[in-house]
Amino acid sequence: MRQIHVLNGPNLNLLGRREPGIYGAKTLADIEADLREIAAKSGVSLTFRQSNIEGELVSFVQEAGLSGADVILNAGAYTHTSIALRDAIKGAGARVIEVHLSNVHAREEFRHHSMIAAVSIGVIAGFGANSYSLALRALLDLSAA
Ligand code: DQA
Repeated sequence: MRQIHVLNGPNLNLLGRREPGIYGAKTLADIEADLREIAAKSGVSLTFRQSNIEGELVSFVQEAGLSGADVILNAGAYTHTSIALRDAIKGAGARVIEVHLSNVHAREEFRHHSMIAAVSIGVIAGFGANSYSLALRALLDLSAA
């Protein structure tokens, strides 16, 4: 069965209570439930993970890439800073869709640059919790690796 890993970075464990005007009212568990509903209908297996620790995210990306799983990655603030995550995506050959709940390009300038966009298949940002389901649908439309 096709494997898709949904990896979430720092502070995304606070969704639902974190700046709801920007990130919405859904919790990460709500987002996971939405994705599991789509995955169940599509016959793919989801692994859903979150960490506040950069090195742990690097290991998650490596694990996904080396096992041939595709990745939906919201790296949170590490998106803008982490050369290590970029190297992990390249090094492990992971197929990644970068996602953001908010439209990072309409926000502070330091959120405009992504370290991982250039090594990702594409970027989906600005659709709230829907960014994740759009990414899952985009991956489902791509053939398995
Ligand atoms: C975010 C955008 C990032 O700039 C921010 O640091 C986050 C969340 C988003 O989903 O909109 O933590 O990745």
